[in-house]
Amino acid sequence: MTESLGIIVNGASGRMGYRQHLVRSLLPIRDEGGILLPDGTRVPIRLKLVGRNAAKISEVAERHGIDDWTTDLDEALADDDFQIYFDGLITQLRAENLRKAMKAGKAIYTEKPTAESFEDALALAREAKEAGVKAGVVHDKLYLPGLRKLKDLIDSGFFGDILSVRGEFGYWVFEGDWVPSQRPSWNYRTEDGGGIVTDMYPHWNYVIEELFGRIASVQTTIATHIPKRWDEQGEEYTATAEDAAYGLFVLENGVIVSLNSSWDVRVHRDELVEFQIDGTKGSAVVGLHKARIQPRELTPKPVWNPDIPDPINHRDFWLEVPEREVYDNGFKVQWEEFLRAVVLDEPYPYDLLSGARGVRLAEVGLQAAADGRRIDLEPLTEADL
Ligand SMILES: NC(=O)c1ccc[n+]([C@@H]2O[C@H](COP(=O)([O-])OP(=O)(O)OC[C@H]3O[C@@H](n4cnc5c(N)ncnc54)[C@H](O)[C@@H]3O)[C@@H](O)[C@H]2O)c1
Repeated sequence: MTESLGIIVNGASGRMGYRQHLVRSLLPIRDEGGILLPDGTRVPIRLKLVGRNAAKISEVAERHGIDDWTTDLDEALADDDFQIYFDGLITQLRAENLRKAMKAGKAIYTEKPTAESFEDALALAREAKEAGVKAGVVHDKLYLPGLRKLKDLIDSGFFGDILSVRGEFGYWVFEGDWVPSQRPSWNYRTEDGGGIVTDMYPHWNYVIEELFGRIASVQTTIATHIPKRWDEQGEEYTATAEDAAYGLFVLENGVIVSLNSSWDVRVHRDELVEFQIDGTKGSAVVGLHKARIQPRELTPKPVWNPDIPDPINHRDFWLEVPEREVYDNGFKVQWEEFLRAVVLDEPYPYDLLSGARGVRLAEVGLQAAADGRRIDLEPLTEADL
């Protein structure tokens, strides 16, 4: 039995690396005494932070009572006391670092997308399989309370046959001239790995796959609605990446999914992402946290008459799904599952192959947009590695 788990955290000062992975996931797991096993015991975790800026990374380490930090990744990977490598760096640096970590015999856990191209993402999945390395890829949206409630609704048979899913993701990201932007500027430059398709389609892939079925074809229209933005230094730059994507996905089982992703939309919804699922026996609207349902028994009967105001208040006929459990931070829950799989040497489903399918959806989505056509997707399973 493992006595403790050492985790190398690369990118601990980044937006995701710091807030979600370090502060909301790994530090609470450390402070709770480690990873909880089915027999009730805990395996403590130790962290080693890696960053390119010594002043910055040592400050983060000190602030959170972490003794171990370095600016030298190779040195960190050579330390046998640390069995797991986490990567939260910008996407372009990921594949190379994951390869180094695998070569050093580490299990790997990584942010998405796993690589810059599908070819490379698939190669990484193959290499992990050949090396017998356990790997996990962030699939955080599956752990959101709203999507967990949706999964329960699906499993209960509430919807009957699911017909269609429509999703709206997005919010207004300030251009950066008079109000500083709330996202990093590289997000808006293709040459730096930016673009909303590369960012969001890896998420949409696992959300759709896990909840509704395998994606059989993709159509997408993209736009760079805001062509100029201002960066972290207040300098104007040209946005070379798309900032909105309008996607249509047909699933193998016939379900139609349409998803809009945009950084140029002002929110008139309850949450920053919302999905409406319509089925023969009922419908649901779910967001990050809340889920509302309308069973067929509660469905009003609208009649189209533009001459009078609608006599039905449609929102009156929806019921809120109650909170039946306490939902911990999704990133933390996934970390716990992955670490347990490492300690117990059990298979882990959200691996580099799943990550590669996500990268493929982004690549194919961009291709479909460039060519103005629908592209079919073949199944991609363990047998293809
Ligand atoms: N799961 C999610 O919901 C989610 C959300 C946003 C971003 N992400 C992913 O997380 C990753 C990081 O995104 P972010 O928004 O935190 O970006 P960020 O710019 O805030 O952080 C990037 C990190 O990479 C480091 N870095 C940048 N250039 C480097 C270089 N040349 N050498 C060494 N280190 C370097 C930075 O110091 C920082 O620690 C991306 O791959 C992104 O796709 C995931």
